[in-house]
Amino acid sequence: MVAARPRYDDGNNLDGAMIEDAPSAETILIRPARVDDAESMVGYMTALTNEALDTISVRMPPTLEDEREFVLRTKLSERVLILLAFAGEELVAILDLSAGPRPSDRHAGRFGMSVARAWRGKGVGRKLLSAAIEETKGWPGFCRIELECAPWNERAIALYEGLGFVLEGRRRKALNLRGRPEDMLLMALTW
Ligand SMILES: CC(C)(COP(=O)(O)OP(=O)(O)OC[C@H]1O[C@@H](n2cnc3c(N)ncnc32)[C@H](O)[C@@H]1OP(=O)(O)O)[C@@H](O)C(=O)NCCC(=O)NCCS
Repeated sequence: MVAARPRYDDGNNLDGAMIEDAPSAETILIRPARVDDAESMVGYMTALTNEALDTISVRMPPTLEDEREFVLRTKLSERVLILLAFAGEELVAILDLSAGPRPSDRHAGRFGMSVARAWRGKGVGRKLLSAAIEETKGWPGFCRIELECAPWNERAIALYEGLGFVLEGRRRKALNLRGRPEDMLLMALTW
């Protein structure tokens, strides 16, 4: 699938953009999270948790207050990013990324992402991650994004490799998502 270039929006012009486009994978709108997205984010996280996937460690669904605080903290922090993907008014994917906290690792960040069940395999993940890469390439000195991934998560690995991430190693027995400790992959993109 050839994914359209992400339509990156600063969050000020969402309403106009949503009226213009019928929801489809090609017209996904990507923008940073705002405090008033917290309710949608809690609903999204609740649905994701209820799926009980064997590919992702999810925290318990946050409370609305916690999520508001999380978004607010992110907005006030440097080198922390929550990007949301919308199909019309529906929140269909979330990515969050933070740089290391120390001078020795401020140039590198780690992220997690997910796409809502009905929207997987339609190019949304690719658009969202591409937007995050584009954004972080603008951070002075920043040159590395890493992630951890279950080795059996073939779609995720295809997405990451497709965008240039390479396998750096295995964290042995680091992951317990299928009833026993199993290895976890460490992948990274550098520029
Ligand atoms: C993993 C995930 C984020 C990927 O997002 P997505 O929107 O489904 O992925 P995309 O549609 O953008 O496809 C990504 C790539 O995987 C390929 N792909 C799609 N379905 C696939 C499958 N079943 N097996 C292997 N590759 C697949 C696509 O061809 C695409 O490759 P390309 O970019 O080279 O064209 C999403 O499926 C998801 O949220 N899964 C559940 C939660 C999760 O696993 N999160 C990641 C934890 S590391």
